[in-house]
Amino acid sequence: MTTDMHHHPEAQTQEQDLANEESATWLFGYGSLIWKPELPFVDAQPARIDGYLRRFWQGSEDHRGTPEAPGRVVTLVPDRQGRCDGVAYLMNNVDIEQTFAQLDHREKNGYTRLTLSLKLGSETTSESQEIVQGITYIANENNEAYRGPAPIKQIAEEIFHSVGPSGTNIEYLLELAEALRARAIDDPHIFALETEVLALLQQS
Ligand code: SIN
Repeated sequence: MTTDMHHHPEAQTQEQDLANEESATWLFGYGSLIWKPELPFVDAQPARIDGYLRRFWQGSEDHRGTPEAPGRVVTLVPDRQGRCDGVAYLMNNVDIEQTFAQLDHREKNGYTRLTLSLKLGSETTSESQEIVQGITYIANENNEAYRGPAPIKQIAEEIFHSVGPSGTNIEYLLELAEALRARAIDDPHIFALETEVLALLQQS
């Protein structure tokens, strides 16, 4: 970290100050962290990562299902041509240890932290995009709760029937789909599942 003796923090916004001073950390959220961040942040921006796809391939035994009947939640799956749009949160490093302790607890069912490049900013505006290093929570195929790929109809059935301490798996899917739509993010996997689950709800 560099020290600038001529630096005048009062002339800057808190956000700029934190970014410039390297006293803040970017976190990339792509699942529940989009619609239910529940973490202290000083800025939130649209962001994208390359080389991954968002998929309902992670099992949830502690939030949206149980060990006996796990639900399904999203993780990032490596894909050379893939991209995933989400939200980047800027977190003050002053309380970062506590924030990460809370996040680690929340994401304890199979997720680990990964450092990667985030592309900040919206592509639909003329604002320039900035690339920063950030952290995301990813559940890879080696964790015990991993479920992996399945036909869309089967994943939809599992989501339709699952419920855990945090609520129904349906809520997790529908809130995510709604949050993506509100941000003009396209994700065919998520919207196909939403369509299937809404059809199941209508039949029930
Ligand atoms: C995330 O939202 O970024 C991680 C997965 C989740 O908690 O749903």
